[in-house]
Order: sequence, then C-alpha cells, then structure tokens
Amino acid sequence: MRLEGKVAVITGGASGIGASTVGRFIEEGASVVLGDIQSKLGTEIANSHGKSALFHKCDVTNDRDMSRLIDFAIDTHGKIDIMMNNAGIVGARGPISKIPLEEFETTIQIHLIGTFLGTKYAAEVMMPVQSGSIINLASTAGVNGGWGPHAYAAAKHGIVGLTKNVAAELCRYGIRVNCIAPGSTVTPLVAKAHLDDHEALSEVTEKLAENSPILGRPGQAIDIANAALYLASEESGNTNGHCLVVDGGATTGSKAGDPPYSTPQPFLREGGKSGM
Ligand SMILES: NC(=O)c1ccc[n+]([C@@H]2O[C@H](COP(=O)([O-])OP(=O)(O)OC[C@H]3O[C@@H](n4cnc5c(N)ncnc54)[C@H](O)[C@@H]3O)[C@@H](O)[C@H]2O)c1
Repeated sequence: MRLEGKVAVITGGASGIGASTVGRFIEEGASVVLGDIQSKLGTEIANSHGKSALFHKCDVTNDRDMSRLIDFAIDTHGKIDIMMNNAGIVGARGPISKIPLEEFETTIQIHLIGTFLGTKYAAEVMMPVQSGSIINLASTAGVNGGWGPHAYAAAKHGIVGLTKNVAAELCRYGIRVNCIAPGSTVTPLVAKAHLDDHEALSEVTEKLAENSPILGRPGQAIDIANAALYLASEESGNTNGHCLVVDGGATTGSKAGDPPYSTPQPFLREGGKSGM
C-alpha cells in the first residue's frame, strides 16, 4: 500500500491514462477525486471504486472550475497529497500555415493553462503543510520535435518547462513537481490521433504493437499509471523537476527488428568493447 491514507486529485480521470491511474492509486490505498468534463463517464468510473473515488465536474481551462475542484477535495478529505494534471486532447492539427488561431489557442488552454491552474491551486493548499507531489502529463512530443501536432507539441514543451520552473520554487516547501512524457499509449486520445476515431481501440492497439520499439508490446495506460504511482509515492522522494519518459525507448531511436538498425555497431561486439 504505497499510497495508504493519501488523497489524490486527477484531472481527465474519466478516460485512458487518468482512469487507469485512478484505479492504480486506489489499489495502493489512496482516495481519489477525479475531475473531468465528461460527467457520465466520470461518475461511472468513480462509482466503480465505491467510496474511494469521487467525481467532480470541471473544465481545466476554467479558473473557477479548477479552484472549486481543489476546494471540493479539501472540503471532502481535508488535504491533497497528490495533484495529477492529466486532462488533454489531440487538438489542432495540420501544417503551420493552415492552423486556425482558435484551435491553436484551445489546445494550449487545455494542456498548458489547465496544468498551470491545477498546479497553482494545488500549490496553494500544499505549501502550508509543506508536502505534496504534483505530476504533470507531458509527452514525447514535449521533448522532441516532430512527434506530434504543432500546438500539442508547443503545449507539452511548455508543460516540461513549467514543471522544472515550479519544481525549483516549490522544493523549499517540501513539494515535488515532476512530469511524465508518454510515448504512444493505447487510449481514446491516441486512437483519435492515429485513426481519427476515439473508439478504435483494438485497431490502434494493433498499430502500436506493430510499431513498438519493444517487440509486439504497445504502450498501455497502466504503464503511465505505474510511472505516476512512483512519482506520487515516497519512493521518488528525491526526484524533483524530472521528466520521466515512458515510451519503450522510441525517443532513443530504439526499434524492434534487426539490431543494426538502432544499436551502434561497436556496442554489438562480443565482450561489450565499444572501440570508441
Ligand atoms: N495516449 C497517448 O499516447 C499519450 C501520449 C503522450 C501524452 N499523453 C497525455 O496524457 C494525458 C491523458 O491522455 P489520454 O491518452 O488518457 O486521453 P483520453 O482522451 O483517454 O483522456 C483525456 C481525458 O481528458 C478529459 N478532458 C479533455 N478536455 C478537458 C477539459 N477541458 N477539462 C477537463 N477534462 C478534459 C477528457 O474528457 C478525457 O476524459 C493527456 O494530457 C495527453 O496529452 C497521452
């Protein structure tokens, strides 16, 4: 029970990575408040966990909604130990010369402004008690160029920057701030990104398995939930301002198939001598 007695708030908790993390945190002893715009799904997820989870409707782009989400968790549980800013969309797509301003802005609002508001209001209640773990969802598109649509990549790079900067401020209050950069992970969002259909989960699982660096193994929401569990628990007590990439090695250039494709030849010599 790595989160015994802890209270977590998770935005975007009605689906995918958020919903998986709700379940994983509860298995480890936490109580969870999940915030999302999807009321029906969010309520169903919360009800499936009995008294350990509560749903609170919120739009992460709305200042008042985010402040109320945090108030709701405090009124219900008296504290917040873990804040996970996870809500997201694929957002604006297409070549830079064609992206409508409003679509670019919406993408930035949901990812970057949502993360800012969640971090701001969580910090406000964590600072007086001098403890807490804030976990933000970045992406491999937030640490490399060309791994996602422009607005999404810009927002995710922003989240990595915000994470590091706020970590530098809040460490003196005993609060840690980290982010996770998932590679392609089977969820409705990635089904939308790859196949333009939120519901095409089995097709996208097959597609990701084919392209996975780790032979035949697509990234799953539970992989990210487990990374979040590490960052939420005391096991990561000395990890701060970190961006934890969970992508099967994709951003290292790893790819299943013939070793010479991805592995520098010298490292393949017997005895591990690189000759370099
Ligand atoms: N799935 C991937 O491959 C992948 C890769 C890298 C990063 N991520 C990030 O992980 C996070 C979770 O994504 P997912 O793949 O689980 O997607 P998902 O679509 O399964 O879940 C996202 C959730 O966010 C909610 N949401 C969207 N806009 C909202 C708003 N304005 N206010 C409140 N809730 C809102 C949705 O209703 C949904 O429940 C996102 O930030 C995403 O960018 C996902």
